[in-house]
Amino acid sequence: MNLKLKIWRQSNKDAKGGMVNYFIEDVSPDMSFLEMMDMLNEQLIKSGDDPVAFDHDCREGICGMCSMFINGEAHGPDKLITTCQLHMRKFKDGDTITIEPFRANSFPIIKDLAVDRSSFDRIQQAGGFISINTSGNTQDANAIPIDKHNADMAFDAATCIGCGACVATCKKASAMLFVSAKVSQYALLPQGKVEATDRVLNMVNQMDEEGFGNCTNTGACEVECPKGISLENIARLNREYLWASTKG
Ligand code: SF4
Ligand code: FES
Repeated sequence: MNLKLKIWRQSNKDAKGGMVNYFIEDVSPDMSFLEMMDMLNEQLIKSGDDPVAFDHDCREGICGMCSMFINGEAHGPDKLITTCQLHMRKFKDGDTITIEPFRANSFPIIKDLAVDRSSFDRIQQAGGFISINTSGNTQDANAIPIDKHNADMAFDAATCIGCGACVATCKKASAMLFVSAKVSQYALLPQGKVEATDRVLNMVNQMDEEGFGNCTNTGACEVECPKGISLENIARLNREYLWASTKG
C-alpha cells in the first residue's frame, strides 16, 4: 500500500506544533501500525530528517505506552486494542492517515506523539496500592474466600493498563474511567477494604489537582478503552467517594 500520513510534529512542550505530510510506499497489510511508523522513521533518518517521536514498550497491548490518536480515534479504528495491536490491513492503498498525540492539559506533549502521563503515576501513588506487612507472616491471599462475581469484576477493573485513551477521547479530558478502575480493583476485594476511605479520597483529590476534567456521562471513554473497562466502575467510584466523604 502507498499511504499519505499527516503527523503532528512538535519539538517540545512549549514549541508551536503543526501537521506535516509524509508519503510512504510499499506498506504491507501484515505490518503493525508501529512497524509502519518504524518504516517511516527509517526513511526520515536516511534522508537526514528528524524521526517522529512516539512512545512504545511492550508492543503487545500490555504497557499502555503507545498513545496515538489515529483518524480521530484513540488507538485507531479498531475496538478493544491498543495502537501497537492495530494492523495496517485496517487501511487501504491510497488512504490518508491522520496521527496526533493524546491531547489533554494533564498530558503535556514531550515531543511529537509522545506525551507525559506522569499525572497517572501520581494518582496511583496517592492510593492505588495496599499496605501489607511482608515480614513473612502475611496470610496467603488465596486463603480468603472471595465471591466469584466480585473476583471477576475486580479482575476486569485490574486490566486497565493506564494508557490514557479514556482521557484523550473525553471532551473534558476526564480521568474518571482510569481512576474508577484503579479504585474498583481494590474496592471489590476484602484486602482493599482496610484503606478504602483514604484511597478513594486521596486518588480523587490527586485527580482534581492534576487538572483532569469532570465526567460528562457521554461514555466515549468506555467505547475507546482498549481493555473494555466498564462505566459501571465510575458509578462504583462515585459510591465509594460518597461513602468515604460522609464517613470522614
Ligand atoms: S480505563 Fe481503559 S482507556 Fe483508560 S487508562 Fe485504563 S485501559 Fe486506558
Ligand atoms: S506498546 Fe505496550 S501497549 Fe502498545
